[in-house]
Parts: sequence; C-alpha cells; structure tokens
Amino acid sequence: MNVLLIGSGGREHALSWALTPSALLTKLYCAPGNAGIAEIAECVALDSSDHAAVIAFCRSHTIGFVIIGPEAPLVAGLGDALGAAGIKYFGPTKAAAQLEGSKGFTKDLCAEFNIPTAAYGRFRNAPAAKAYIEDHTIPLVVKADGLAAGKGVIIATSHDEARAAVDACFSGAFGQAGSEVVIEEFMEGEEASFFALCDGTTAVALATAQDHKRVGDGDTGPNTGGMGAYSPAPVMTPDLIERTMAEIIRPTVAGMAKRGTPFKGVLFAGLMITESGPKLIEYNARFGDPETQVLMMRLKSDLLAALLATADGTLDALTLKWIDDVALTVVMAADGYPGTPLKGTEIKGLSAAAKIDGVEIFHAGTKRDGKRLLADGGRVLNITARGKTVAEAQAHAYAAIAQINWPQGFCRNDIGWRAIARGER
Ligand code: AMP
Ligand code: GLY
Repeated sequence: MNVLLIGSGGREHALSWALTPSALLTKLYCAPGNAGIAEIAECVALDSSDHAAVIAFCRSHTIGFVIIGPEAPLVAGLGDALGAAGIKYFGPTKAAAQLEGSKGFTKDLCAEFNIPTAAYGRFRNAPAAKAYIEDHTIPLVVKADGLAAGKGVIIATSHDEARAAVDACFSGAFGQAGSEVVIEEFMEGEEASFFALCDGTTAVALATAQDHKRVGDGDTGPNTGGMGAYSPAPVMTPDLIERTMAEIIRPTVAGMAKRGTPFKGVLFAGLMITESGPKLIEYNARFGDPETQVLMMRLKSDLLAALLATADGTLDALTLKWIDDVALTVVMAADGYPGTPLKGTEIKGLSAAAKIDGVEIFHAGTKRDGKRLLADGGRVLNITARGKTVAEAQAHAYAAIAQINWPQGFCRNDIGWRAIARGER
C-alpha cells in the first residue's frame, strides 16, 4: 500500500527508515519531510493544517494509510477528518489527543480512574490558583494547561516564584495554552519515557527510553525538546514495566474507552520512578523525539504491520521483537538553540560519519541547496548508534560526530552518562 507520513523531524526520518523495509509498503510519501527523508521517501509540500488538501492528496495518490507524527495535527483533528473521509490513519482522534492537549484533562482522568500521579489543582483564574499555592508546601510545579512546545512548565522553589508563574501564564506568556493552569505537587525520582501502542482496547508495550532534556552537559541549562536519548532505560526493570502497564497504561486505555473516546495510537508516558513506584508526569499522544530514533534502531518487527494493527484494533494478536543491543542518539543542534537557531549553515562529512560501525544518521532539520546540505531548524541531526552497552553505543555515536564538519552546530558530550555512571550495560 501507499503510505503518507506527516511531519518533518528526526522522529519522522526514523519512522521512514523503519517503514521502508516493510513488505506491505508500496510507496512512502512524507509531508513535508526533510533532506534526509527525501533520500528514502518522496517528500511532498502539503500543509497538514489544510485537512481538505491532505484528503485530496490521499485520494489522488491512492494512500491506504496516513501516519501522523507530531502532536499539533492530532490535537487539531486531522485524524477525525481523515476518518470521516474513509481514510485509515495512525494516531488518536482530537478527543483522545486531549491526553496531550490538556494537562488538566489528563489529571482529571487520573483522579477518576485511580492512576498514580502528582496531587494537583486545576484553575481558570489567578486568585483561585494563588489560594491553592498558599495552602501547599514548595516546591510546586506550575503548568500551562495546553500545548506549549515543552516550555509551559515552571518548577517553583518559593511561593513567590509559584505566584509569578501563575501570573505569567494568565498574562499570556504561553499564549492560549496558559488560559488554564495546573499546579502540582513536586515528585522526586528518576524520569523515564514509556511507550505503548494502543488500539482502543488493547495496549502493547514498546521499548523504554530515557532522554536528556537540558541543553548543557551534566543536565544543566534551559530545557529543550531533547538533546539525546538511549534505550532501554536501565531504571525500568521488568517489574516496573509490568506495574506501569497495570497501574497507568491499561487503566488509561480502559478509562478513555469508558468515556466514549477510545485512544488509538501511541501513548508516550513521561514517568517519575518514585520510592512508591511509577507515577505519571504527563502523557504525549504521539511518538517521542528523539526517543523514537533509538526505539526504531532496536525494533526487529515490521513497523508498518504494528501501526496498521493499532489502527485496525488487532493488537491482541501482535507480538513485537526487539534487538537486544542498546541504542543511543546524540542531537546536533544549530547555535542559538533552544533560543532562535542560526539557519542556513553548511554541514559536511555526513557520509564518512555514517560509515562508522552501527551508526545511522537521522535528519531532524535539514534542507538541500543543490548538493549542499544546510541546517534548517533548531535540532538538526540525530547521530544514532547501536552497541552492546550504553558506553559502546555512545563511543560509536561520538566517533561519527568527530567526522562531521559543521562549525555552527553543537551537541552535548555526555549523552547516556547517567546509565554509564550506574555501571549498567
Ligand atoms: P512535562 O512537560 O509535564 O513533562 O514537564 C516537563 C518536565 O518538568 C518533566 O520532564 C519533569 O522533569 C518536570 N516535572 C513536571 N512535572 C513534575 C512534577 N510534578 N514533579 C517533578 N518534576 C516535574
Ligand atoms: N522528547 C520529548 C518529546 O518528544 O516530547
């Protein structure tokens, strides 16, 4: 069948790379894609917010399946529009994407179905939010309710800071996303990313991962979309994986079905592994970026078959196989990121870098200018490698980076340090 993938990041390059070998695939299109994706799929200039244009493209190119990568088109209801047009797609409906689109929605679902998460309050105005702050001990976590590109979370270490965060949200610092505010108890522990395919009824666990959100070495500096990741997450023991499925993922799937808004797609749970077990920090309603890059390096089974089973409601018959190796990815970003990145600088040396043992290079924000490859975003490249251990995968990734000639790019030099310091494999 012909498949259309929506998105343009490293996540979509990794998904394209994993979809391409499928025997079920005739032709892969990607909208809008990037320079790396263009090497393995046909990139098309489609605006995913124009639902009618996406549907028209699907009809004219006999697309049998649309895979929606990023959250914005999901929350905007692209899936619903495709479904209404009779086109099969991967991803949740607009109603089910509320698990990512509204933090308050998810907290209320957790409260209703007994899913472990931080204690919270949900507020539409500053006086009510400030009254809650008065009654609670710091640290407190203040969050804009809606999609804020990872920026709408403030960890307040004083009551004044918490009040200022509330004022910032309600005065529009995060746009429409901040018109409602969630205030939470601060949870202590180690974070992990957990992924599960869900078909509305059944959930199948994917591999685990850990990412590095801060821009600087040693996990310092401002938050980013993710500067690197590795899989598996050593903290996620088989017992914790089973507890996460039993206490968090399955109750969410059952709760969403009970409410009449079944969740189909991939649930990406941000977890805090606390002393009393796994607790939900937040949900995303799509694959993680850059976590997907490491998951795809380890997936042995046919990705397209798995995503089709998710859409078809046949996950109960699916078993996924994984490569036992560790995978690790290092993000190379353009100078300026996570502020305004420098665009249009030339990158050289990628073919030498790609020859290093066990290395795949996924493009996250690139474009071609004739033969020249140019940076075209904040996060630009994902240098991804497999190894028997985190240390080995890390060594392969940094050996590849040493071959890349891009003076206006930078990366963290310590991706995977936490796992290596623990002496885990
Ligand atoms: P979120 O966008 O909700 O995932 O939050 C971004 C980051 O803020 C998380 O990855 C955590 O590091 C941190 N965070 C969010 N909520 C909490 C919480 N309740 N307790 C501790 N840390 C949190
Ligand atoms: N890496 C975090 C995210 O995809 O949101």
